[in-house]
Amino acid sequence: MCGIFGYVGARNAIDIVIEGLRRLEYRGYDSAGLAGVQENQIVFSKEVGKISVLEREVRKQTFQVPAAIAQTRWATHGKATQVNAHPHFDKERSLALVHNGIIENHDDLRRGLKDQGVSFVSETDTEVVAHLIAYHYDGDLLGAIQQAVAQLKGAYAVALVHRDFPDQIIAIAHEAPLVIGIGNHEAFLSSDPRAFAFYTRQAIYLSNSEIAIIKAETQHVYSTHASIDKEYCLLEQEFGEPSKGEFEHYTLKEIYEQPQTIRNALASRFVVEYGTAIFEELTFEDRDLLSVERVLILACGTSWHAGCIAAYMLGELAHISAQVEISSEFRYKNPLIPPGTLVIAISQSGETADTIAAIREVKAKGARVLGVCNVQGSTLVREADETLFLKAGPEIGVCSTKAFTSQVVVLSLFTLLMARRKYVDYESFFFLGRRYMYPTCLEGALKLKEMSYINANGYAAGEVKHGPLALIGEQCPVVALCADRITYGKLLGNLMEIKARHGKILAIASQKDRHLEEIVDDVIYVPVSRDELAVIPVTVVTQLLAYNIAQLRGMDIDHPRHLAKSVTVE
Ligand code: F6R
Repeated sequence: MCGIFGYVGARNAIDIVIEGLRRLEYRGYDSAGLAGVQENQIVFSKEVGKISVLEREVRKQTFQVPAAIAQTRWATHGKATQVNAHPHFDKERSLALVHNGIIENHDDLRRGLKDQGVSFVSETDTEVVAHLIAYHYDGDLLGAIQQAVAQLKGAYAVALVHRDFPDQIIAIAHEAPLVIGIGNHEAFLSSDPRAFAFYTRQAIYLSNSEIAIIKAETQHVYSTHASIDKEYCLLEQEFGEPSKGEFEHYTLKEIYEQPQTIRNALASRFVVEYGTAIFEELTFEDRDLLSVERVLILACGTSWHAGCIAAYMLGELAHISAQVEISSEFRYKNPLIPPGTLVIAISQSGETADTIAAIREVKAKGARVLGVCNVQGSTLVREADETLFLKAGPEIGVCSTKAFTSQVVVLSLFTLLMARRKYVDYESFFFLGRRYMYPTCLEGALKLKEMSYINANGYAAGEVKHGPLALIGEQCPVVALCADRITYGKLLGNLMEIKARHGKILAIASQKDRHLEEIVDDVIYVPVSRDELAVIPVTVVTQLLAYNIAQLRGMDIDHPRHLAKSVTVE
């Protein structure tokens, strides 16, 4: 896909932008070009094919420019020809600009400009922008751009040089990524900050019809009518120089990186002792996650495939209904987003236009968006409410490989996190057991009642069919204490009766048993011990169950209502 790079400063601007284009090469392109201002004339070069072809042509010239813009083009409007390659110019060639994105109303604008006598040389939507700015220009370049921006529709990132201002570049961004890099007496511009992170990690992200006048010493940002104070940010991710190492292609290297990238996705997130997942970066409150009734997954291409797998996992393991949509289709469905919907947007790059547009649509309808992304600082990360990072390192090969497996790992951890919350919403529980496990049931039920104010009844399992079975059903899970060896077989029979009535069963057991696992929904194992002593580990599990449910329900656990530590009255 298209990439933009710009530079202003004391270094050789042409060398720097060619190097910048090389760092953007991984995005895929079919032609490349660059421009600057020399002796108050626009100078440029553009070629079909590889950046090396462009560089060969540029070396035949004697370009000396204080500022330069450059682009790799991936054809959308017009074939991959030299004429259609960027930069594009106005009639007088007073300005040159490069552009990523699509000007949706280019036909209307072109017609209007033609009526004013403007003639076009290329088939691109980009050329319209050059003529439009020139049409409004009367010595006030910012004013002309502001007027043009007010007329443009679509998503676009533009870099521009003008012969009247040789030592500056202008950036224009609307719903397409464009980032300024602030160096020491120099500045950079790119659609991907990775391309300049080698020089500086101080950055300003542009968006929403913002216009930046970028000089070596100053960088000012404007809206269509006023100046704006923009926050600087520090690029967090380690954007090292990409290298193929011993591999012939980045793609092969990235396929072979997967043992490590999968480890990165898991590291410090999968908590073996508790069998659950923790995401340090996730600041959603427990109550936010608990209120999730359904999940809507939005993504494109390979990321959509990961989303389809996540939907199965969420449904089967966390019992949360999940719908997966291709972002580009979803945008045009005027979707209803019922309360309780969590939107998960999956994108390796965090810049896929359809996915970004889809999340804007759902956010406007009040949905919470959880991003799953590999690139810090990307548009998805900035616009989602929260993001889970893949930690897969840069994916340079155009075909997504390692990102997919990392997406599946992160989404399965998220499923685990959600699945671990599934006993929290019930308002009624039965605790069942026999012999030593019977009083243990009574104690377990008491703890749940005290800590979480949930109606919990402890029963001798054999007694259930004499009445309480009437209450068993999907809305009332059973905690089955299965650690009494003498009555174990009989208890399994009781559990079968419950299962036949659609009861949900969480077992606490002391020995692995295939029969038990086939009957119940979930099992927590405790160490094997004598029946009398099994009371202790089983009780600890019921205490922790009560504690965790109470905590997730936001209870005042140390001071339950209406209770006192010492009851000193009769
Ligand atoms: C296929 C491929 C594409 C991307 C798609 C979404 O190998 O790379 O299908 O998966 O363009 O990209 P992201 O994940 O960056 O949103």
